Amino acid sequence: MYHKKLKLFPKDFLWGASTSAYQVEGGWNEDGKGPSVMDIGEHPANTSDFKITSDHYHHYKEDVALLAEMGFKVYRFSIAWTRIFPKGVGEINKKGIEFYNNLINELLSHNIEPIITMYHFDLPQALQLKGGWSNRETIDAFENYGRTLFINYGDRVKYWLTINEQNMMILHGSALGIVDSDGESIQKKLYQQNHHMLLAQAKVMKLCHVMCPNAKIGPAPNITSIYPASSKPEDVLAANNWSSIRNWLYLDMAVFGRYNTVAWSFMEEKGCTPKIEPGDMEVLSGAKPDFIAFNYYCTATVAESENAHSDRLSTGDQQIGLGETGVYLGAVNPNLPKTEFGWEIDPVGFRITLRELNERYNLPLLVTENGLGAFDKLEQGNVVNDDYRIDFLRNHIKQAQLAITDGVKLIGYCPWSAIDLVSTHQGFQKRYGFVYVNRDEFDLRDLRRIKKKSFFWYKNVILTNGNNL
Ligand code: BG6
Repeated sequence: MYHKKLKLFPKDFLWGASTSAYQVEGGWNEDGKGPSVMDIGEHPANTSDFKITSDHYHHYKEDVALLAEMGFKVYRFSIAWTRIFPKGVGEINKKGIEFYNNLINELLSHNIEPIITMYHFDLPQALQLKGGWSNRETIDAFENYGRTLFINYGDRVKYWLTINEQNMMILHGSALGIVDSDGESIQKKLYQQNHHMLLAQAKVMKLCHVMCPNAKIGPAPNITSIYPASSKPEDVLAANNWSSIRNWLYLDMAVFGRYNTVAWSFMEEKGCTPKIEPGDMEVLSGAKPDFIAFNYYCTATVAESENAHSDRLSTGDQQIGLGETGVYLGAVNPNLPKTEFGWEIDPVGFRITLRELNERYNLPLLVTENGLGAFDKLEQGNVVNDDYRIDFLRNHIKQAQLAITDGVKLIGYCPWSAIDLVSTHQGFQKRYGFVYVNRDEFDLRDLRRIKKKSFFWYKNVILTNGNNL
């Protein structure tokens, strides 16, 4: 739809950007922090580990000052569960509590509201050793961790996110270094874990509403519209299948408290329906999010999966779904360019995704990730000319404004990432930040912070409330 006049971004629009603890903090074993599955896990060859990353743990004041210089209204970061509870449960680590108190206070002193992700891929290793999310005790551990966060930070934090990209942990955990093998045999285990995570999420959403009545809380999955590869009804059906399994399974539960029917029939077909204990469905339907946060990188295009009897296809990564036997087959969209790392670029798909979410759930939406990973180059004179990133973000923000004009209740935009950090599986060379961190894959150099061209551009976007792109 073409609009003669565009609506403006709301006056209180939440401009900011995002990071996650294990990708940005470093200090992986400092001040009592326990190991997480990310610290212990294997890394793809030739990529950095997560031990030092951008060393935000020691640079947080300098980093917050840079975010403030860009005019951030919000900053989305995650808390490392293992800084608070080194073993996931048990004794609280005071130094961990202190670090996030300092970070939150530093942000607030610069008029930046914290948006906190409670769990971003980094499950405590101690819990993993006891079965991780397969063990129902992890649900209680997460609730206890949530309670501790609300007690310690609930007086100052207004926005909470439960679990980052639960759908990607279930669908592409191997690309994220979270599950160690692919294949049908672990699918049953994964959907049981998914059920437990959904319960854990429902419990902390409810707890948040009781303990912090002025705060808002929501899930943070990776959501994208799915296109059929052609107008063939079978392709349209495949897109519908994949959308239910990839997107709506997670959000229908968070918002409506019920399993999506197509996703459930998929689990039945694959023999991987979760065991539901008495009382679970009451817990799941008894919690409601205040908003939906979601990460958007690009759309997916799929065709009918004709190879119903072949082996299960490889799982790909967060944005590249290769296929699921009898359900869908990943296809290339010939209309879209790709990033240097092979992810398609689709700003219009962002508007479509925003509309779809708005129509389905009728809740405020918060974009918690969107961005371009690239091989940035530090040029002479401390300059990083990341015009490609500016183009990417500009085109997406334009579509966000169109979506707002369409009637979508979009409350904020936090691209990935505030500063450079280690990517999930492609190391430090895949940079996303507005701030360049001077290190390479293995040489830590001086970890100096350098403002990229996009830093100055985004600063002006925020200053003009999105009027000057
Ligand atoms: C999301 C994650 O999947 O995408 C982030 O929430 C991640 O943790 C981001 O870094 C970009 O993906 P990648 O693989 O390029 O780091």
